[in-house]
This record gives sequence, structure tokens and C-alpha cells, in this order.
Amino acid sequence: MTASDTIITLELGHYRLRERIGGSAYGVIWRAEGPRGTRDVALKLINEAQMARALPAQRERWIASAETEIAFLQLLEPWDERHIVRLLDSGWHNGLPVLALELLDCDLGRHMKTLCGRGAALQPERLLAWMAQLNQALAKVHQYGWRYLDLKPGNVLVDAQLGTVKLADFGTNRRLDALGDHTYTGTANWQAPEQFFPRDGGGYATGRQSDYFALGALFYFMATGAQLRYCGACGHAYREHRTAGASLLLRQHGGLPAILQQDEEALFAQAFAGTDGAAEDRPAGSAAADAALRLLRHLLAAEPQARPRHAIDISRQLALIGVTGSRTPAGPAPHAAYANWTPRAPAALSPAQAGHWWGKAAGRGHAHVHANWHSDAEA
Ligand SMILES: Nc1ncnc2c1ncn2[C@@H]1O[C@H](COP(=O)(O)OP(=O)(O)OP(=O)(O)O)[C@@H](O)[C@H]1O
Ligand SMILES: [Mg+2]
Repeated sequence: MTASDTIITLELGHYRLRERIGGSAYGVIWRAEGPRGTRDVALKLINEAQMARALPAQRERWIASAETEIAFLQLLEPWDERHIVRLLDSGWHNGLPVLALELLDCDLGRHMKTLCGRGAALQPERLLAWMAQLNQALAKVHQYGWRYLDLKPGNVLVDAQLGTVKLADFGTNRRLDALGDHTYTGTANWQAPEQFFPRDGGGYATGRQSDYFALGALFYFMATGAQLRYCGACGHAYREHRTAGASLLLRQHGGLPAILQQDEEALFAQAFAGTDGAAEDRPAGSAAADAALRLLRHLLAAEPQARPRHAIDISRQLALIGVTGSRTPAGPAPHAAYANWTPRAPAALSPAQAGHWWGKAAGRGHAHVHANWHSDAEA
């Protein structure tokens, strides 16, 4: 059992558990004191009580997931870790893998809750900077040959002092070159249609673009403090019926539920519209809102191949929002060549089109849709 004051010995040192700061179905995160003179760390352990209750296959999955996370973080070079949580040490405790991570202040979910509780919102320039940082973190994951598949507020850590974010929790990572369908993974409230709705054979065909959809869901959340109704519906269906919730949801909606509704677009655009700025700022604020909405629709496209193809597509669009907005740009101004650049991919599908997509994906034509996307995304 792990309890406060337990000493955990890893490869590089001893750590004394101080207080529990987070956890999930199988993980538990402690703030722990490291060797004298070093900063406290976040120790990520597997919950031993849950482990004892779990079936052998589940136990193996949890251990494999922690090992995947350690293996991925150990691959990174120090310069890769600007927006990815740093692994400081690792090892085993009571036969289970343990990670010692740099300790950050809180996760994005808690941060937004605190902000919203005060009636405040994330400022557009910070929101754009965090989008750029998460885009960069995902690009690193992809560059190392993985897809992340679990982007959500609880997996984004906030450094309050620097005002920056870092991506954490890499247990769900899957190789990009593993092209076959896989079993259900991730968190239902934040995932792309192809990650939530299985194909005919029951497997899921995800890729890099699945992470971009989740980035879109997070973009909406950071701008509005709310979750997309589409995401909420998937989360609810999963909570009630586990993976069978997907087909129930399709039946209930007569196809794929609408991903981004008109009132949600309006709410999102308000965050960029500069309505709280001076009157002369408003036209520029509206241009920022239009650019932000274009990016949101692009990220949330129902079909993976209609989403941005690479991180650079996303960073260009983010820069456009920054320079057209009435506030400080989030990053460097885009090169003049991008001044008239507009996204190549179409806007998010209408509910009718989304239904059509699902009709294809769930029925006759789906193998074709996914096969095309796969070769495209993995090329
Ligand atoms: N390095 C860290 N610094 C500060 N807090 C952390 C750190 N790592 C994790 N946490 C906190 O613990 C929570 C759970 O961490 P993490 O997501 O890594 O575990 P998990 O067991 O994989 O969770 P889940 O399965 O819900 O995604 C985070 O949402 C965050 O609140
Ligand atoms: Mg997590």
C-alpha cells in the first residue's frame, strides 16, 4: 500500500510521498519530496488497490500503459520538453512501474474551473499561446512516431508562473506505423468520431488527425469554458453503456450527431470578437473571430482527411488569428506569403453531411473512406 510518508526508491533517488494530487481509474499521482535540495516531484504510481481488484488482462494493460509512457518520455531530448512534462526518474515499486515527473501547478481542467468560478475567461492571447504550445507538443509526439489519443484538460498541465502549458500522460500513445484498427482507447468526452465510433469489425481507425480533432475540442473548451455538446453526448453514452454507447448514439441521432452547432460557433466567436475592447478594435476583433472559427471548424471536421494535415497548417492559422485580432499576437507574425492564406480543407460538415459521412463509414463505403485517410495520414 502507498500512504503519506512512504519512501519510494527509483533509479536515481528516494522520494517521500507527501500528498495525493490526482488520480484516475488506475493511476495515482502524489506530490513527493526528492533528494535534499531538489524540488518536489509528481510521482505517478499504479493504484495498488485497483490493481488487486482488476482482471489479469486489465492489470497487464495498466502496466503496459505505464511502460509505454516511460519509454516515450525517455526518448525525448531536453529540447523536446518545452511543452511536454519532463520525466526526472523512473523505476519499480512493489512490482509496479513508477514515474517521477516535474511537478506543475495544476491541470487545465482545474485551471478553467477556477477561472470560470471567478466569472473570468482565458484571455485570447493566452488561449492562442496555449493552442500553439499544445500543437507543438503534439507535433513532438507525432515526430517520434506516435499518436497521442488522449488530449483533454486533465492531461494538460499548467505552469502558473510561466503562464505556459505542458502535455502529460502518454500511456495511451500508439505507434503511428501500427496501421491496423485497435481496441477502444482514450476518453470519450474528447475524441474524434473515428476514435469513438467503431468500424464494422468493431475496431477503431485513428491517426494523427484524431489528435487534431481533440485539439479542436480543447480550443472550444478554452475559449468558452464549456464542452461541445457532441463531446458531452459521447461522454454520456460511454458512461452509461461503455462502447455500446456509440451505436445507441447513432441510432438516437439518425447518424453522427452534429459536431459543432450554430449557437456553439457564436459562443466561441465571442471569445475573439473583441466586444470588451474599445469600439475601434471591433472590426479587427471580428476578423480574429472569423479566423478562429475557421480553424475550429477545420480541426473539428468529421472526416479525418478534412482536418489539418500537419502541425504547420495549425500554426499558420493560429498566427493569422493573432495578427488579425485586436490584441497582442500569440506568436511571430506569419510570413508575408501567408497573408492571403486560407485553409485548403472545407469547413466542418453540416449535420446532414456528417450523417452522410457516418452513412459511409458505418455502412457500405466505410472501408474506402478510412483506407484513403489512412494512407494519406501515415504517408
Ligand atoms: N507532473 C504533474 N504535476 C502536477 N499535477 C500532475 C502531474 N501529473 C499529473 N498530475 C495531476 O494528476 C492527474 C492525473 O494524472 P495523469 O493524467 O498522468 O494520470 P492518469 O492516471 O493517466 O489519468 P487519466 O487516466 O484520467 O488520464 C492530472 O490530471 C493532474 O491533475
Ligand atoms: Mg490523464
